[in-house]
Amino acid sequence: MDAELGSVTWPPAPIRTERLVLRASEGRDRAVFVELLASPEVHTYLGGPRDRGELERELPEVPEQRAGSFVAELDGEMIGCVLLRRATGHRRPAAAGKADLGYLFLPRAWGRGYATEACAAALDWLDGELPGEPVVLTTRSANVASMRLAEKLGFGEVERFEAWDAEQWLGLRPPVTSAA
Ligand SMILES: CC(C)(COP(=O)(O)OP(=O)(O)OC[C@H]1O[C@@H](n2cnc3c(N)ncnc32)[C@H](O)[C@@H]1OP(=O)(O)O)[C@@H](O)C(=O)NCCC(=O)NCCS
Repeated sequence: MDAELGSVTWPPAPIRTERLVLRASEGRDRAVFVELLASPEVHTYLGGPRDRGELERELPEVPEQRAGSFVAELDGEMIGCVLLRRATGHRRPAAAGKADLGYLFLPRAWGRGYATEACAAALDWLDGELPGEPVVLTTRSANVASMRLAEKLGFGEVERFEAWDAEQWLGLRPPVTSAA
């Protein structure tokens, strides 16, 4: 089980980036969460997609309602989510207990830099809420788009390991230190 991220103010005031708004999830996002979680394309490098009918029945009225789970919105429509969690149960000791970044975007929103823009804003938010907090990220090394995103966000390789029948990449974003 993932524990709470920490002592953060939630829900946050919506965060505006150049093109997006990041905010806590709402009931109106449910259909897009179903789409994300049921999409085989989104799950190419993740555990298999979930059954759409089961999601329709079982997903809470407001999905992902927890501190650190952001919906990214473009022109008023959800296009993806950025999830900051505390990885208490992570199988690698270097990551266990650290803040952990995940992201899922709709395929129609890929290739425009939206995921980078949204994740960078969520990490800025974390830096403000929990200064000095390192962040980890686990992705399949074959997930080229995700690996590139990790690099752009400033994650460096800690290690590669085998899990879920594939090579996984564990990256770390060191704590941001004040320039002063
Ligand atoms: C991982 C994922 C979020 C990456 O999405 P993405 O759209 O490729 O990521 P970015 O937002 O960084 O966009 C980068 C692309 O936009 C392009 N781009 C276009 N306009 C841009 C702009 N204005 N600014 C920045 N990049 C721009 C970049 O050139 C780059 O394209 P390229 O990869 O062909 O070089 C997406 O593939 C996804 O949701 N995958 C499924 C979920 C998943 O695997 N998650 C990982 C596990 S946590």
